[in-house]
Amino acid sequence: MFDRPASGTRAVVVQVDFSQGGIDERLAEVTLLTESAGATVVATVQGRRQAPDPAFYVGKGKADEIGVVVQLNEADIVIFNHDITAAQQRNLERRLNCRVIDRSALILDIFALRAKSHEGKLQVELAQLQHLSTRLVRGWTHLERQKGGIGLRGPGEKQLETDRRLLGERVKLLKGRLAQLERQRAVRRRARERREVLTVSLVGYTNAGKSTLFNALTKAGAYAADQLFATLDTTSRRLFLGEAGNIVVSDTVGFIRDLPHSLVAAFHATLEETISADLLLHVVDSSSDDREGQIAAVNGVLDEIGAGQLPQIQVWNKIDVTLASAEVQRDACGKISRVLLSARTGEGLDLLRQVLTDVALEHKAALASAQQKPDSD
Ligand code: GTP
Repeated sequence: MFDRPASGTRAVVVQVDFSQGGIDERLAEVTLLTESAGATVVATVQGRRQAPDPAFYVGKGKADEIGVVVQLNEADIVIFNHDITAAQQRNLERRLNCRVIDRSALILDIFALRAKSHEGKLQVELAQLQHLSTRLVRGWTHLERQKGGIGLRGPGEKQLETDRRLLGERVKLLKGRLAQLERQRAVRRRARERREVLTVSLVGYTNAGKSTLFNALTKAGAYAADQLFATLDTTSRRLFLGEAGNIVVSDTVGFIRDLPHSLVAAFHATLEETISADLLLHVVDSSSDDREGQIAAVNGVLDEIGAGQLPQIQVWNKIDVTLASAEVQRDACGKISRVLLSARTGEGLDLLRQVLTDVALEHKAALASAQQKPDSD
């Protein structure tokens, strides 16, 4: 949809401090995101503001500073680690004479690279089109004009109308196909519900170790990689827990702070799996400096998709790095709140298995007593 930073692409990253804190972590994250999209960060520009400037997001002076950095580093693209408006993007591209993208576009791009399943690809395309549709206002003509290419005046208003109409038709088509896939998922889910199996969804910040834990638990070959958003498709596997029988565990897409809204909407079908789970295992990279920020971001997305109230147990992963001991922690009411383990070394996995067994047995008992109730009335 937009030019993807190809391999060898040189990027300048812009991070503005609005006194929101965690600037170093945000910079480290956007660097990893940029690398996940196949580009290299050649320089970063930081600034401090009370609020975004309506024209350039940053001030004019800062915009010119970015321009100098772009020239000095021969950068191909400027990445704002923020959401910028279509107008700001256009103004910046004109002033810097360089392609500018925002955080949402970057995340969408990584998703586009990673999508493997048919459904995943459709979801990403829909999200990209929706992101693009807000920017389809003489979106690309100015850059061509700046280069002064004869005959490169870009599409006129008529062309834009056609583009908009075509885009609208494609969005409708994609939504239709996704709705169909969602219905199929719902049928599968209902079949599972009839079998009264406990369903558990792994959720967590990107790179927390969900896929590694999923593999360790289910011995499945889910793709685990030190890349952001390695997993885009929800995978479900049965897990046998001895006396408690089988449960179903699902690995889902990783969350990230400020996930683009169009993406959350497009991934509705896949995230539906999360919303309908009996229990969420919230996998946390306990070795991250930004641990609390990441936990809050995940809970924010869960609220947004309507899964904020589901029972949740945090799994503090990577204790091989933090050197904490494997253990089950309880809150003041005695409810299990955290399991500390390492998905990589397997330390503490037995504790998590036991916790899941207990939850599954409770679930069974609750179902049995609910079924008996009508008889006793
Ligand atoms: P997304 O697909 O981005 O959502 O990532 P994910 O949460 O599925 O993470 P994944 O399992 O792909 O792991 C991310 C990185 O963390 C990989 O390099 C793993 O090898 C590493 N990792 C996972 N678990 C552990 C652990 O217990 N200890 C250590 N040291 N590294 C781990």
